[in-house]
Amino acid sequence: MKIELVVGDILRHKADMVVVNLFEGVKRPGGATGAVDAALGGAISAAIRDGDFHGKWGETLLLRPGKGVASPRVLVLGLGKKEKFSLELVRQSALPVVRLARKLRLRTVASVLHGAGTFGLDPKEAARFAALGAALSHYGYDRYKSEKENRVERFQWVEINRSLAAPIRKGLEFGARLGDAINWARDLVSSPPGDLRPDGLARAAKALPKGLGSAATKKMRVRVFGKKEIEAWGMGGILAVGKGSEAPPRLIVAEYRGGRPGDPWTALVGKGVTFDTGGISLKKWEGMEKMKYDMAGGAGMLGAVRAAAALGIRKNIVAVVPAVENMPSGTAFRPGDVIRMMSGKTVEVFSTDAEGRLILGDAIAYAKKRYRPAAMIDAATLTGACVVALGSVTMGMMGNDGKLLSRMKEASAASGERAWELPLHEEYFEQIKSEIGDLKNIGGPEAGTITAGCFLKEFAGDTPWVHLDIAGVAWREKERMGYAPGPTGAPVRLLVEFLSQAGRG
Ligand code: BES
Ligand code: ZN
Ligand code: ZN
Repeated sequence: MKIELVVGDILRHKADMVVVNLFEGVKRPGGATGAVDAALGGAISAAIRDGDFHGKWGETLLLRPGKGVASPRVLVLGLGKKEKFSLELVRQSALPVVRLARKLRLRTVASVLHGAGTFGLDPKEAARFAALGAALSHYGYDRYKSEKENRVERFQWVEINRSLAAPIRKGLEFGARLGDAINWARDLVSSPPGDLRPDGLARAAKALPKGLGSAATKKMRVRVFGKKEIEAWGMGGILAVGKGSEAPPRLIVAEYRGGRPGDPWTALVGKGVTFDTGGISLKKWEGMEKMKYDMAGGAGMLGAVRAAAALGIRKNIVAVVPAVENMPSGTAFRPGDVIRMMSGKTVEVFSTDAEGRLILGDAIAYAKKRYRPAAMIDAATLTGACVVALGSVTMGMMGNDGKLLSRMKEASAASGERAWELPLHEEYFEQIKSEIGDLKNIGGPEAGTITAGCFLKEFAGDTPWVHLDIAGVAWREKERMGYAPGPTGAPVRLLVEFLSQAGRG
């Protein structure tokens, strides 16, 4: 989908549909909506007066103007209560519009920039969120559909004030690029698990710079390590989890040098379990098909690197993604086994289904040793307990550094991608102490998200580190928060905001 700015009058602009808006409770529309209303002889105010349309959040009113407006359709989009409106809602407001446009098989949609008029949002920021919303709303995985869904070819924003053209254009560009990177990650998550095994994820990572242009590509280096290196580096966690599958594990390392040489690295570590059967501690069959999304953390971290490169973020960033398939077989690791991790710590396995922390422990140790990052963030669909605690609205966040956690909270507020801190109090560590080794890989039924975080903390050591449990938010069953059902590409939005901030790492 092409995203572009049109400077001009929405009454005269010709598209398959033009979109204006209304806040809830407004009786006499102003701005562009007022102009359209006047051109239509008061059709919008009449609909409000007669109670056909209230401007409620996500409500739509489709009109066929005939004369007065150059386009054949006018959509009035309800933006809800003024007090609740925000940049994040600018993003979310795109979904009903794109959905309708696809249903009507429209090619070109033109919209006003919601919130940038009298509501007073910064036009560049509003444009960022609007374009991101359009790009994200347009996502669909139709690879295996015999009949492809209709695609909107152009999404245009019409602005009458020429002096706003430059900032809006910049904002749209940013949102479109970010949206592309997120959709790239979503495609990986959507892929059936038989199509995307560890080597498949590695191949996708190799193609990460594709389409970004030579300037960005020059700053990137993607390397993939195989079983030989993983063995040589003593990554017992990755080896153990990968052992049950005939598809050998991979360690994916994607560097982007957007900063100056010598600037510190920011490390992004992502869980890349391309399919999680649970291994010998086999999961029940219901819902197992969804465990293809157990590599969403890895896809998200690679997507964040792609976004950073596409946006020219001035930081040195490295994504480290351990990729494995967790399978039960005669060669699989077992409950009771003791693993020696790269850091030297030993782990007693209680459940082969708590595999994410085993591969992440090694990847965190690798990132720490090889890159000495100023900040390290990991993302993982790590625990079902996080889904219970926070649902699919908010990701769980834990860490060992107050400053880094504060910066992540700021980035969460600014990006609209929600993260909520859970405590890693000392007392919880008791739950993961092993009788015969240093650690055990589960902490019992209580506080499952936190004990998983405690486990990872042992490997982060003194590196400022934040862990994101995205089990609840990486995939949504129902349409919610501006996403169609399916993968969301979390936590790319949050990370791009974080990486755009000034500061070390
Ligand atoms: N990939 C799962 C976590 C998960 C569960 C993600 C549901 C999304 C939805 C992880 O590998 C896992 O199986 N965790 C176990 C840990 C337990 C054995 C301590 C869990 O959460 O049940
Ligand atoms: Zn598991
Ligand atoms: Zn898992």
